[in-house]
This record gives sequence, C-alpha cells and structure tokens, in this order.
Amino acid sequence: MEHSHAILRVQDLWREYGESGAALRGVHLEVEARSVVALYGTSGSGKTTLLNLLAGLDRPTRGRVEVGGQDLEALGEKGRTLLRRRRLGFVFQFFNLLPTLTAFENVYLSLELAGTPNRSAAREALASLGLAGKERRYPHELSGGEQQRVAIARALVKKPALILADEPTGNLDTRTGDDVLDLLAGRCREVGATLLMATHSARVSRVADRILCMVDGVLEEGARCADTQEATTEGSSARGLRAGDPSASG
Ligand SMILES: Nc1ncnc2c1ncn2[C@@H]1O[C@H](COP(=O)(O)OP(=O)(O)OP(=O)(O)O)[C@@H](O)[C@H]1O
Ligand SMILES: [Mg+2]
Repeated sequence: MEHSHAILRVQDLWREYGESGAALRGVHLEVEARSVVALYGTSGSGKTTLLNLLAGLDRPTRGRVEVGGQDLEALGEKGRTLLRRRRLGFVFQFFNLLPTLTAFENVYLSLELAGTPNRSAAREALASLGLAGKERRYPHELSGGEQQRVAIARALVKKPALILADEPTGNLDTRTGDDVLDLLAGRCREVGATLLMATHSARVSRVADRILCMVDGVLEEGARCADTQEATTEGSSARGLRAGDPSASG
C-alpha cells in the first residue's frame, strides 16, 4: 500500500476583511488524499471564506495553503488559475452552470479549459451521474437535482485530485439533496478524488470519513457541530455545544 499522504495542508490561515474583523483566525488543517471530509459550522463562521482560499480564488491575510504539495502563494496568479482548471473541481450551492450551454457543453468546456478536450469523456461523466439522454438540455430545462448532477459531472470529468463543494445541497429539497450527496461522495470515492464540502445537511455525517467544525473562524475536529445540526433539524433545542467547553471561541 502506498503511504497515505495529505492532498491539502493549511497552516495558520488568517483572513481579515478590513475593519469587520477576521473571518478566519488561524486555521490548521491536513486532509488525507481520497478522503471525504465534511465542514460544518453556523452561518458566518467562515466556511466559504476557507473554501475560496483553498481554491486560490482569494488570498489570505497570512498563513499558507498547499494543494498537492504546491504552495498556492508561490504559484502566483497564473499558476493558481492553471491549478484550478486542471487539478481542482468545484460544486456550488447555486450550481453555476453556464445558461447558454447545454449539459454536454458545460461538461466539455471544463475539459477544454483543463487542456484535455474529450467528447466521450464528457458523455461518460454525464452518464455516470444518471444523465444519459439529457446531454442536449439547457440548464433551465433540467430540475435542480439534475443541474447539480451536471455540475458534479463538470467537476469530476477532469479527474481532479480535490473537489471543493460549498453547500452543494443547499438549494435542493431534503430527498433530492440526500441523493445528490450520496452520488457526489460515491463518485469521488470511485475516482479517488478527495472531497471537502461545507454543508448544513445532517446526511453528511453518514457519507463523510471525517467531520470538521468551523467555530468563529477556527477549525475543530469532530462531530460536535453535526450533532448540533441534527438536533436542530429534528426540532430539539440543543444549540449549545454539548461535548465540552469550546474554549476556542472567545
Ligand atoms: N468580502 C467580505 N467582506 C467583509 N466581510 C466578509 C466578506 N466575505 C465574508 N465576510 C464575513 O466573514 C465571515 C465569514 O463569512 P463566510 O461567508 O465565510 O461564512 P459561511 O460559514 O460560509 O456562512 P454561510 O453558512 O452563511 O454560507 C462573516 O462574518 C461574513 O460577514
Ligand atoms: Mg458560505
């Protein structure tokens, strides 16, 4: 067996927004290759801020991000763009498909931008997400769940090492969202991609290898947030963090 290694390394990451304070306050994280990791946290806790930094879409106030052993800062703007096109996949809450392109064209474009255009690979990616026969549909001719599956096909088709997902089921009903999450996590495992996703879904605790919790701009290990989220979903008022005192906040 190959020794397990980190696909992602984050050291003391800070992101301050002017006078409004710090959204991230010293995040440390290592993510093992081929794992499925869920990122919980209340609204405003810093999940999107972290994902944008990991994607190189934003730059930290200080700290370091390494993707596949490459320091994002050292790569420069061009290098980060190439890394995004070739090695990273994204899945967003609002799908972000190009409305003037068909399902097929949305997926194919991702391969073109990666420098590896391949029509049959695009068709196969769609088929693997249950979308055979819908290649010629435009996004507005697809359901929300189908649009998100196109977005997942678009992310996975270039065989990225890392998929970042920001609330991938946030705009879907619970049942469709559960199906999409199962597919997303399942396909990532099949192709050996690492998945890091921010979510509010209780379902994630079943598909994830590991659960992280963002609390006021700092990451904590464990399912504590997940417990809180599930309890909240079920109508219980377990708002407090149950397992011990979160001395990180304050
Ligand atoms: N461009 C910005 N300028 C100033 N403050 C910002 C900016 N973007 C985010 N913030 C602040 O940073 C904090 C973290 O925001 P972020 O979007 O990362 O939260 P989140 O965990 O993704 O929340 P949600 O679950 O609602 O998506 C919030 O307090 C937010 O107001
Ligand atoms: Mg967010």
